[in-house]
Amino acid sequence: MFRDESSCNTYNYGDALYWDARYIQEADCGSFDWYQRYSALRPFIRKYISPTSTVLMVGCGNAVISEDMVKDGFEDIINIDISFVAIEMMKKKHEHVPQLKYMKMDVKDMSFFPDDSFDSVIDKDAPLSASQMLGEVSRLLKPGGVYMLITYGDPTVRMPHINKPVYNWEIELYIIRIRLDVLESAAFDYLLFARPGFQKRDESVSFDSYLEPVPTTDKGLLHPDYVMEDPESHFIYVCKKIDHSTDLSNKSTNHLTDDTMQR
Ligand SMILES: C[S@@+](CC[C@H](N)C(=O)[O-])C[C@H]1O[C@@H](n2cnc3c(N)ncnc32)[C@H](O)[C@@H]1O
Repeated sequence: MFRDESSCNTYNYGDALYWDARYIQEADCGSFDWYQRYSALRPFIRKYISPTSTVLMVGCGNAVISEDMVKDGFEDIINIDISFVAIEMMKKKHEHVPQLKYMKMDVKDMSFFPDDSFDSVIDKDAPLSASQMLGEVSRLLKPGGVYMLITYGDPTVRMPHINKPVYNWEIELYIIRIRLDVLESAAFDYLLFARPGFQKRDESVSFDSYLEPVPTTDKGLLHPDYVMEDPESHFIYVCKKIDHSTDLSNKSTNHLTDDTMQR
């Protein structure tokens, strides 16, 4: 069990039985996307991830995002989740969609896949199993590949886990404000309005996002004078695995240019 920073409740989020029971209980409610839906994430996903690339969706649950990505042209998405119930449900739903594959797998052990298997990994907040999962994600990413984490967890909570040299990636941070008229899901509304102290505001306000990365400190934190306009914001961490071969070829090109200039 661990504490979920976003809602200040305690759940056994890493427990397969918890999720199986939950997916059985909510089977009649249909699919549900936690956090953001593809429509909101599309600008970020299309910026960093090519539709022809190989995508791993970790902790996919019964979210619609992968299905929406296929409608948007994505060709190869492997979805994994620890919940057998969710995976069987999604396999059945998408049995005629060759672009989508579903496998029951624990994010802490993805040894089924060899190193450098994926161009990108998308994580709409599979539980923070920290180092074990992040080590696996880094191993699975091709050089130049991208791990995109979408979460409520702000940099003070997340950066100490993801901003480690051992993962060999560079991180860019985006902040998306939640705006109410795109929250189509009643369940999502429930999550928001059930929060103590949450006030429903101007309903005409719609989803807003910043398409530029937020400047951060050396440690990846927000600058002390940064003002969060909306405490209900979501964070997108884009972790780009460093491609040393590109670094080297750039360096040799630069040297060549320098040499040429000196002659
Ligand atoms: C908060 S839900 C998010 C579901 C989906 N990503 C979305 O955005 O709607 C977390 C998901 O992570 C899955 N999960 C929990 N622990 C896991 C683990 N160790 N390995 C793989 N999936 C896990 C749960 O079964 C659940 O479907």
